[in-house]
Amino acid sequence: MTITLLGSYDGVELIRHELKRYGLMGFNPPAAPDVFEGIILTSGVLRITYGDHTEILGPGSVVSMVPVQEAVCIVALEQAEFVYLTSTSIFKSYKEWVEKFHQMANEIAMKDGYTASHCERIRKYSVMIGCQLNLSAHDLISLSCGALFHDIGKIQIPDEILRKPGRLTPEEFDIMKMHTIYGRDLMNSPVHPFLHIGSTVAEQHHERYDGSGYPYGLKGEEIYLPAAIVAVVDSYDAMTSNRPYQRPKSKREAIEEIRTLRGKLYDPRVVDAFLKVVDTFEDT
Ligand SMILES: [Fe+2]
Repeated sequence: MTITLLGSYDGVELIRHELKRYGLMGFNPPAAPDVFEGIILTSGVLRITYGDHTEILGPGSVVSMVPVQEAVCIVALEQAEFVYLTSTSIFKSYKEWVEKFHQMANEIAMKDGYTASHCERIRKYSVMIGCQLNLSAHDLISLSCGALFHDIGKIQIPDEILRKPGRLTPEEFDIMKMHTIYGRDLMNSPVHPFLHIGSTVAEQHHERYDGSGYPYGLKGEEIYLPAAIVAVVDSYDAMTSNRPYQRPKSKREAIEEIRTLRGKLYDPRVVDAFLKVVDTFEDT
């Protein structure tokens, strides 16, 4: 997401947003009760969710909110540009927040030996499934943030385990499993207030539908749905990626494996939504 301050006067700001396809912007009710916020869509297609209600907007659409009462989530279905108008000064802290967010995503990707585009791919595919499942605004924001930072806890795993070329010993694997707990704690830390909303996804993305996952062995719908989505996308990505100890599966083989594990390792609702959108993954 790119943001630019177009103009400001007496606390009122006009901020241009550019979102790539499946880019997401979320905002929560303001602290002040009488803030006016509005959006004017200049190009592209936006999917906007307020609480549980969703609308699709095309160019020229105008949305005004006085005041925002509940979480709002905007997803670009096509690359989009819109002007966001607010009656309170937020641009400076907002810009710092966006920059910090991107910088952290890059740091985690480097630590894990991946590229930033890998993390962004997991985020984007997860949001595609979340839209298909009509998640609430809160859960979509949680999914997007949690998917991007799901492996943030690996920052605290020693490099010799994280980058070991062969399979891990049981003791090493026990240490590796801790990245879920470390991730939850890092995202809940007061140092990163903008990451709190994704912490449950980081904590639960290795839980499995049949209870065979970690760290808690949660089962079925005990697992937070956005975390169950990241579980499928992360597994699919691992199956189709080059790893030191396995040849990558073809896209078809990976899809078949996910389908076979529906209701076993993976939530059936998520697998059904995944199967509906997986053919469009590479087009985005
Ligand atoms: Fe992980």
